Amino acid sequence: MGKKHFAGAFADIGKKTNAQIINERRIINGEDDGLMQVAPLKHPFADDIYKKMLANTWVPTEVQMARDIEMWTSPDALTEQERFVYKRSLAFISNLDGIQTNNLVHNIARHITSPEVKLTIVRQAFEEALHVHSYATMIEALSLDPEEIYGLYRTDQGLYEKNAYILRAVDSISDPAFMTGTFENDQLFLEACVGNIILEGIYFYSAFLTFYILKRNNKMPGSAEMIAFINRDENLHLANFIQITNTIKEEQPELWTPEFQEKMRKNIKGAIELELDWGKSCIHEGILGLNPAGLEQYLQFIGNMRCRAIGLDDLYPAAENPFPWIDEMTQSSMTEVNFFEGRVREYSTGTLEW
Ligand SMILES: [Fe+2]
Ligand SMILES: [Fe+2]
Repeated sequence: MGKKHFAGAFADIGKKTNAQIINERRIINGEDDGLMQVAPLKHPFADDIYKKMLANTWVPTEVQMARDIEMWTSPDALTEQERFVYKRSLAFISNLDGIQTNNLVHNIARHITSPEVKLTIVRQAFEEALHVHSYATMIEALSLDPEEIYGLYRTDQGLYEKNAYILRAVDSISDPAFMTGTFENDQLFLEACVGNIILEGIYFYSAFLTFYILKRNNKMPGSAEMIAFINRDENLHLANFIQITNTIKEEQPELWTPEFQEKMRKNIKGAIELELDWGKSCIHEGILGLNPAGLEQYLQFIGNMRCRAIGLDDLYPAAENPFPWIDEMTQSSMTEVNFFEGRVREYSTGTLEW
């Protein structure tokens, strides 16, 4: 029950061979001597993801915001509704990346006992920090009022409730006394991993969509490029947590009960509904060809994709992607499908082709 860390584990593990240590390695509840020995690997998917993360290295100051500044300060380039949607989307994703940075650092990383998987979590946390910095770069470039963006959740009931719902989902494992190693707690940790799939693979998507819709209409291209860089990172984060979830399922199959599966489907469905409500509160009757019906279909398509990726039944009947052009814009083509067919595109450092 539970596991020893560092000094205690280091002393116990001293009598084992390296092969034994690697063979006993698990995503959670495994041997961990705290020395981060990542060769050879027990979980090669992590090494693969880590290398792809490194290949995606970029910094927000690379993105040209000059055209966006020009448009934002020109009285006619954007409608009031477009400005409203822009600020609301930025508020939500800036809150979300802040939550996720803390979640990875404080809740997730300390329970991972596979050093190669821990490397991906550390890198992922760095990328979330990069995203936090990206939103600050956008706020500064456009001279937006930080109170209006970061502080929106204090005046907007919908955003407050959305953040509270997301924070509740990570609450169960955020107690510093929480330890893996019991059936109940391991299920809670696995639920938190599915929570990460929801966060990385559902919550960002309506906000991303609004930036892409603006770009498609030749508006705020620098912002959309920033979002495409972030989106490319999130696709790998999503792939990482899909792999983590599926590997814990293999290592501890007793956790994946029919009741648990139903609960995960319910969590994903709840997230889709929450995201749709939020999206509708941003776009109202529609903006630049994006209407509530299209958004609903898009989110249902994504919901089914996330379910399939971890072996759950579809939530919605035959939902098709109404915006296939998004794949071209993000160069991602739904990573969790392509990635594991070995067709993920190769990226060179700091570039993104439109
Ligand atoms: Fe992020
Ligand atoms: Fe992320």
